[in-house]
Amino acid sequence: MSEIVVISGSPSAFSRSEQVLKYLGNLLKQEHFSVTHISIKDVPAEEVFQGKFDSPAIHEVTELIQNAKGVIVGSPVYKGAYSGVLKALLDILPQDVLKHTPVLPLMTGGSASHLLAIEYTLKPVLATLKGHNLKGLYLLDRQIDKRKENPIIDEDILQRTKKQLQYFTEIVNRQASTVFLT
Ligand SMILES: Cc1cc2nc3c(=O)[nH]c(=O)nc-3n(C[C@H](O)[C@H](O)[C@H](O)COP(=O)(O)O)c2cc1C
Repeated sequence: MSEIVVISGSPSAFSRSEQVLKYLGNLLKQEHFSVTHISIKDVPAEEVFQGKFDSPAIHEVTELIQNAKGVIVGSPVYKGAYSGVLKALLDILPQDVLKHTPVLPLMTGGSASHLLAIEYTLKPVLATLKGHNLKGLYLLDRQIDKRKENPIIDEDILQRTKKQLQYFTEIVNRQASTVFLT
């Protein structure tokens, strides 16, 4: 079982948001969490776009998410919202797939003017799936160098990212011990 599932919603071959998500996954692995990375690019497109809810691939994604102790969901801002391909995947998952699950939302965008996309688009859809949203992270393209092992090149946003990740792991651990005790 994977403790943390990271979902990358960018269709780009070499994606900024995905590089940041992979970096977060590596930080979590250093904290001894098991991490599974799901990219929208790895989910068969015809199963998503033909709404094949019962296909083995969608079943596998669903199980991974349902069994996770925490989920990180990342997307680029596209036209002021999350990517359409991420929404296409979320649409065919069970409506409570994130039940009882702490969720860290993350978006990257070219412009600060779409900072609120995380509040008005990504968080509501994750809450609809019954996820427990943390504050979340919005990174600008100029704060990212996707070729670097640590792609977050702005010190201020790097510190905020690490702080959010720490809150996330604290909640995941607290939730895990509560479940264990009950
Ligand atoms: C089709 C498309 C639409 C975009 N729309 C926006 C937008 O509305 N607002 C914004 O700030 N950036 C926008 N961008 C810029 C991306 O959000 C930004 O470059 C992001 O970091 C790309 O992430 P990725 O490399 O993970 O796909 C857009 C980029 C593309 C390709």
